[in-house]
Amino acid sequence: MFAASDLSKCTKPELYQQLAAQLRALTDDETDPVANMANCAALIFHSVPRLNWAGFYLLKGGELVLGPFQGQPACIRIAIGSGVCGTAAETHTTLRVGDVTKFKGHIACDSASRSEIVVPMLTADSHLIGVLDVDSPEVDRFDAEDEAGLKILAGIMARKL
Ligand code: SME
Repeated sequence: MFAASDLSKCTKPELYQQLAAQLRALTDDETDPVANMANCAALIFHSVPRLNWAGFYLLKGGELVLGPFQGQPACIRIAIGSGVCGTAAETHTTLRVGDVTKFKGHIACDSASRSEIVVPMLTADSHLIGVLDVDSPEVDRFDAEDEAGLKILAGIMARKL
């Protein structure tokens, strides 16, 4: 059984270090990508405070398709270049959106979302695999420390997909 540690008193960098260690432990002996993404989404959703959605979109047939996630049911297909996810996927850059209502083309899957961070997952030779998408009901929820931490988690996953 997975026993979640009490991470409530950690600093943010410590929290993400702990999550990276837990994610490596959860995925080390498993090769199934769906199982690994499902556990990663659950780990993030239940350990990072003040989120309403955490999960994956994967590049399939030239568009992003919904993968394992935690939160409300979400849009299934997103065109490359559309919304926050499609823009992060197209540009291969992490997008941290402090107020989603100000992002032109934001796709509202869950009306509770106010801020969002999307981290592209790339192969070692820089091909897009998909994105890790994390949403919060709070404006400006994600800072540079969240970005650094989520990039580490997305990197661990990219090497498992
Ligand atoms: N808001 C995203 C769509 C995915 S949901 O947030 C889960 C976007 O604009 O791409």
